[in-house]
Amino acid sequence: MKSALITGITGQDGPYLAELLLGMGYNVYGVARGQSNPRLQTLQETHPDIHVLSADLIDASSLDRVIQESAPDEVYNLAAISFVQYSFAHPLLTAEVTGLGPLRLLEALRRNGGSRTRFYQASTSEMFGNAIETPQSERTAFRPRSPYGCAKVFAHHATVNYREAYSMFAVGGILFNHESPRRGIEFVTRKISYHAAGIKMGRLRNVELGNIEAQRDWGYAGDYVRAMHLMLQNDQPIDYVIGTGITHSVRDFVEAAFSCVGLHWQDHVIVRDDHKRPAEVNLLCADASRARSELKWRPTVGFEQLVEMMVTNDLRTWQTIP
Ligand code: GDD
Repeated sequence: MKSALITGITGQDGPYLAELLLGMGYNVYGVARGQSNPRLQTLQETHPDIHVLSADLIDASSLDRVIQESAPDEVYNLAAISFVQYSFAHPLLTAEVTGLGPLRLLEALRRNGGSRTRFYQASTSEMFGNAIETPQSERTAFRPRSPYGCAKVFAHHATVNYREAYSMFAVGGILFNHESPRRGIEFVTRKISYHAAGIKMGRLRNVELGNIEAQRDWGYAGDYVRAMHLMLQNDQPIDYVIGTGITHSVRDFVEAAFSCVGLHWQDHVIVRDDHKRPAEVNLLCADASRARSELKWRPTVGFEQLVEMMVTNDLRTWQTIP
């Protein structure tokens, strides 16, 4: 039986990936951080099959321990400070966790005889930043626009470097935005679906947003974890761009979400300049043709279906809130 170690198990992608791997017969270890993480309690109730281990990407000795304990065939590093806005307020912490953290994990693998372990780094379209071309592929230069993007570029290069220097099977999956009902409320898609549902149910009046002209290539997280797994089953360690190739603005998302609940978004959305970022990534759109042809990966959920899935889920969420 293969075993996999997933860091960031309490994030959006961790549980989707764990479900996929458990379904394939893997022994799954999930790494969580901190003493009293409320999401961890929920995870342990909903996913009792995941062996939860405690470690922190800023604590190298804790990484040694989890690698020794799990002896993984595959490591998926999904842990990070992942909220771009937060990274502007905490740039050094972001560099420590999101940038140096993956390097600590790669070193821990080397130290603990895990150089034959296959390693997946959650790289991101945010690395393209102020992109020099559209769509963006594996050949597009990185021009990050946030402390988060800068940290992810460092981690991506470290992953490539360990592959080249130590012949490790280490890859960076350059995933574009991927969403789901499990998305954190701080990210724009879930913020919109949660508020649209709350307004429909008479529980909220408005939603305040920042730059609604930003454009993103949004896919469904459940599709994207399949790509992570496929990358580690490949014959060679190769980095892939993963996205739908279709771009929408935040405004489009707002319009679609409010129309799902039969409301006009203009009556409820307040655009606030102080919600805008110091530097913005204006347009992301994936050219995932390499993944399509070599990994045979394809997204199964389109934009409208994704919006509807999230709004429908949040209508249910509000029913559980007293
Ligand atoms: N979060 C948020 N909240 N974003 C807003 C808001 C708001 O109220 N109003 C407008 N936006 C705009 C942001 O300025 C950004 O252009 C866009 O909505 C998307 O923001 P997020 O949902 O926070 O995601 P992101 O694109 O910055 O980053 C996500 O995707 C990356 C992949 O490209 C995160 O998941 C990253 O961790 C991931 O790497």
